[in-house]
Amino acid sequence: NLKLILVFILAYLIGSFPTGVIIGKIIFAKDIRNHGSGNIGTTNSFRVFGPFAGSLVLVIDVLKGTLATTLPRLMHVPGPQYLLLISGGLAILGHTCSIFLKFKGGKAVATSAGLFLGYNLKFFGVCALIFLPLVFITSYVSLASLISVVLIFIVTFFFHDVYLELILGCIMVVLFVRHRSNINRLIHHKENIIPFGLWYWY
Ligand code: G3P
Repeated sequence: NLKLILVFILAYLIGSFPTGVIIGKIIFAKDIRNHGSGNIGTTNSFRVFGPFAGSLVLVIDVLKGTLATTLPRLMHVPGPQYLLLISGGLAILGHTCSIFLKFKGGKAVATSAGLFLGYNLKFFGVCALIFLPLVFITSYVSLASLISVVLIFIVTFFFHDVYLELILGCIMVVLFVRHRSNINRLIHHKENIIPFGLWYWY
């Protein structure tokens, strides 16, 4: 089915859009990859460019995942529900291995959230209820992301959706692989703390 292949290619390209790099270059004439943690994502955008640019990167990166996930429906491609997950998964692949960044990219947190939002609003709500308090408690976005993805993977079993479990398994592996440098910094007490939350105030 040609239309489905087109959907998948578009999903990958949408995910590939390097929001943090583009916003940094357009608004601040800076390449985010040379600043802070060097990551192109939301956390580093907040860190390097402040709350306005950080929020913009957050919203766009989340929407990339949401748009890609809903793309099969938007383009009227009939088929099972798991097509949405494949499409959203391709956006995550694009975000982490972007065709516009020589197949480098981000750490997949915001785009994964976008996939959840596009796929199942209730599931997204549960994920947000897990992630946001953890950010507040730990004051480390990386640590909160890693703990959350494990908890969310476990929670997935209560949704009785084998495809959702499968994609969560993949997302968990991707998140851990992409956060290797963060894990290393956390172990050596060198991770960038966010100036906010219980651990920071403590
Ligand atoms: O947004 C990804 C987050 O988990 C870590 O980002 O920039 O602190 O490596 P960063």
